[in-house]
Amino acid sequence: MTQTTDKKIAVVTGANRGLGLEIARQLARDHGFHVVLAARDATKVAAAAVALRADGLDAVGHVLDITSADSAAAFAEWISDTYGAIDVLVNNAGVLLERIYGETENIETDALDVDVDLVGTILDTNLLGPLRVTQKLVPLIKRGGRIVNMSSQMGQFGWADSGMVGYRLSKTALNGLTANLAVGLKTRGISVNCCCPGWVKTDMGSKFAMIDVEEGAQTPVWLAAQADAALTGKFFHEKTEIPW
Ligand SMILES: NC(=O)c1ccc[n+]([C@@H]2O[C@H](COP(=O)([O-])OP(=O)(O)OC[C@H]3O[C@@H](n4cnc5c(N)ncnc54)[C@H](OP(=O)(O)O)[C@@H]3O)[C@@H](O)[C@H]2O)c1
Repeated sequence: MTQTTDKKIAVVTGANRGLGLEIARQLARDHGFHVVLAARDATKVAAAAVALRADGLDAVGHVLDITSADSAAAFAEWISDTYGAIDVLVNNAGVLLERIYGETENIETDALDVDVDLVGTILDTNLLGPLRVTQKLVPLIKRGGRIVNMSSQMGQFGWADSGMVGYRLSKTALNGLTANLAVGLKTRGISVNCCCPGWVKTDMGSKFAMIDVEEGAQTPVWLAAQADAALTGKFFHEKTEIPW
């Protein structure tokens, strides 16, 4: 049954922890959104939504595994049945599988050593995941809506490095997808941008990272809620456009 809410509705993927949870928190707390936390584990996503509601925020959780076409279709059907339409999609869920965490430093696999199948697994989540979810949800995004893709400066052409090639390529490709979608969705009035949050202290970023999640969430939240709606097909860091 369709729920009525005066609030704007944002879907954030990978929202049970890390940057996704903090992006959802800031959208609800600072910008008045009803947030839908999407994550692959039913127990974890329910707990995350309970935690935000305990802070007085308007949040619900629902299962979404972005590597599964069936899960993306079921999620979109639930969104359609529950809300009819949404305003914002943040494609945040992602994996970094080529780093071994150490006590004093992190060890990263080299492009010449990495398992090619592992690279395929990374691309399936970080590139094809946002593509699957976006394809299913775009028909439900209102005119004037926004899509934000969580990328990384590690995918920039200007930052070539042999380490973590699967992750790097996944973000380079996600940037390409962002530009492509932005062109395709212009006539529907939907902006599509991507951003790097910086090197953030999360499970992925590790304890060696430079900034906390509160700071890391600021640019994606700005793109989702505040940036000039005319901005589309661009890559941002610290609310400033950066080169691909
Ligand atoms: N941290 C950084 O320094 C940094 C820098 C640049 C870009 N980013 C990007 O920012 C985003 C969030 O990163 P983070 O640091 O918050 O990472 P994180 O702490 O490792 O969290 C990743 C999130 O993605 C979810 N996820 C992974 N695979 C999924 C799938 N198949 N379906 C649904 N959810 C899935 C995880 O769920 P589970 O709990 O079920 O595993 C988790 O909620 C990623 O796209 C990352 O590449 C991060």
